[in-house]
Amino acid sequence: MAAPLPAPMPQHVAIIMDGNGRWAKQRGRPRTFGHAEGVEALRRTVEAAGDLGVRFLTVFGFSTENWRRPAEEVNALFDLLRLYVARDLDKLAKEGVRVRVIGERHGLQPDIAGIIEDAESRTAHNDKLNLTIAFNYGGQDEITRAARMLAQEAVAGRIAPKDISPEMFEAHLDTAGLPPPDLLVRTSGESRLSNFMLWQSAYAELAFMDVLWPDFDRAALEEAIAFYSRRERRYGGHGA
Ligand code: IPE
Ligand code: IPE
Ligand code: MG
Repeated sequence: MAAPLPAPMPQHVAIIMDGNGRWAKQRGRPRTFGHAEGVEALRRTVEAAGDLGVRFLTVFGFSTENWRRPAEEVNALFDLLRLYVARDLDKLAKEGVRVRVIGERHGLQPDIAGIIEDAESRTAHNDKLNLTIAFNYGGQDEITRAARMLAQEAVAGRIAPKDISPEMFEAHLDTAGLPPPDLLVRTSGESRLSNFMLWQSAYAELAFMDVLWPDFDRAALEEAIAFYSRRERRYGGHGA
């Protein structure tokens, strides 16, 4: 008997890590406690993704709209990025993880910009797992910045507007060089994209899960991957 074909694995998993505030509230604790636990869930997920053979993992950590939150919470989220990199960068670098950060860097505190550049350059030669952190990221902001770059190139006479193609546009997004996500997971029961990877998710399979992000673990990632492996992707063509 022929061996069963291996279930298709997503090459690129993207996750909207949502529900930290509700997780904390359920425990009568401040929202920032939920965010700190969210970092633990991220650490578990990065490890599990590497073990399961996921090549690209992209996580949404702070949106361009999250500035609407109280300054205290925003500061706590920035502190957690600092803490995560300080605690885990050595290990990530050693384990073959390549770290990238996407999003608008203008307006971030200078130390954060430096931390990001250091994490990216120290891991640039790795390729076991590509971990991309979306921080101060918004899909509309990213698309607008790409359009602005192309407009500048056209005004400077380096490109003609008629030559702008989806491929050229894509090369001006923060995710240039990354494959599009195959599987996009959102935790906490919300079924919306909240401005995450709008261009890149055109053909992603969407998994909306009830688990709150601080409870996310290897089993939850396996469940999302199992969901993915049952999908039939068509890309606009006909079915099998
Ligand atoms: C996700 O958890 C983390 C960020 C958006 C930074 P939330 O803080 O959105 O938690 P809920 O959705 O209020 O529960
Ligand atoms: C999306 O979650 C942003 C991140 C997970 C970083 P939000 O909690 O900000 O999204 P909304 O406000 O519920 O749409
Ligand atoms: Mg939320």
